[in-house]
Amino acid sequence: MAKVKTTFYCQNCGSQYSKWQGQCTACKEWNTIAEEVLQTPEKSDWKSPASASVKRAAKPLLINEIDGSQDARIDVVDLEFNRVLGGGLVPGSLTLLGGEPGIGKSTLLLQMALRLPYKTLYVSGEESQKQIKMRAERINPVASNCYILTETKTQNIFKQIEDLQPDVVVVDSIQTLHSDYIESSAGSISQIKECTTELIKFAKETATPVILVGHITKDGHIAGPKILEHMVDTVLQFEGDRNHVFRILRANKNRFGSTNELGIYEMQGAGLREVSNPSEILISRKDDELSGNAVAATLEGTRPLMIEVQALVSTAVYGTPQRSATGFNAKRLNMLLAVLEKRAGFRLGAKDVFLNITGGITVDDPAIDLAVVAAILSSNEDEALPKDYCFAAEVGLSGEIRPVQRVEQRILEAEKLGFSTIFVSKYNKISLKKTAIKIQLLSKIEDLVGFIV
Ligand code: TYD
Ligand code: MG
Repeated sequence: MAKVKTTFYCQNCGSQYSKWQGQCTACKEWNTIAEEVLQTPEKSDWKSPASASVKRAAKPLLINEIDGSQDARIDVVDLEFNRVLGGGLVPGSLTLLGGEPGIGKSTLLLQMALRLPYKTLYVSGEESQKQIKMRAERINPVASNCYILTETKTQNIFKQIEDLQPDVVVVDSIQTLHSDYIESSAGSISQIKECTTELIKFAKETATPVILVGHITKDGHIAGPKILEHMVDTVLQFEGDRNHVFRILRANKNRFGSTNELGIYEMQGAGLREVSNPSEILISRKDDELSGNAVAATLEGTRPLMIEVQALVSTAVYGTPQRSATGFNAKRLNMLLAVLEKRAGFRLGAKDVFLNITGGITVDDPAIDLAVVAAILSSNEDEALPKDYCFAAEVGLSGEIRPVQRVEQRILEAEKLGFSTIFVSKYNKISLKKTAIKIQLLSKIEDLVGFIV
């Protein structure tokens, strides 16, 4: 009998060790190293070795000699998904979709599989065919090109693929797969690595795009070895607040496109709906003007997005004032409060400050700063801002209003949505002529105070 080979992996970061140790030297976590059984086979290939084609060794080519024509991308019949992918699925690519449980990963991919006009194989290791059928009926009951397979052993999956010859393969999820060549249990580091390697080989050799679902750990990383993200071509993240209906799809890595594009969806009773005009939904145009509300003209990727910021400033009940922010960096909030205290003379030190970005969305565009400051000032004074004002500027430590990128695009979006005035930095170069919207230039935070209070 062949000797059983074992190796030790850190279950947190995936580092490999030849013997057990108490602390992982790579990620410094304790008690995360566990033994996993390996069995190196003669050959680990997605096809049976007999049918494997004999490949020639690659030769170096002059860059001018390389065929640079792009393969046609596969349109996934979903504008948002297409944009995040950089224009559709690339043949032979491996895409990893991560996200919290229950956020809608399976729904998104099943919906895509049902819409695609190509032969699609949806492999599920998590749900039964009946469960998937029930879900499919909610989304789109008339699809005809989608095959469902409930299987977790990669060798069996490849056998079905060879029979079926699908154009697109979806695997839900990589953590449920296991390969015969490795003895450790499904979801272990060595299994994930091996199954991904087999899928990559399959994708590259047959030019079939494969989409994998990946679970994430409690701190938001894709479970399994970090190397998984290096192996695949594209890493997508599906996120949102489970109590809100909005979901955001973003690319963390994309070998075939930019990573700052964003897809926005709304979870409905019949699947995910693409939101092509997010600004109109994210701003609650109420009839009354309420204090503490301000609208920021932000950019997500290349798309302008108007979002509403709400602040509540109240007298602190306890000695230490509370500061809490939802959808906004709490450290940044503290910094803005300190700037207000120092530069605009507001005594916010004895006040509780709560900040909320509506719609359950998290933004990291610095242009939101000015709207945050305006919302805080408005709540502090209990004076509502005119509801057709909006803001787009960064606030610096010395209270200066700093310019932001692509300000003209933001101005045009605000104009399109019927805002009357936009506040931007004086240092932004604006070459727009004749706008219906008034562009108010500010250089320091004191200037804003004049308009609000
Ligand atoms: P799911 O795709 O199973 O999440 P994941 O695969 O990321 O774990 O989504 C589950 C949630 O989506 C579930 O709570 C119900 C909700 N949902 C809808 O609101 N509408 C729908 O049409 C579907 C299919 C699901
Ligand atoms: Mg799922």
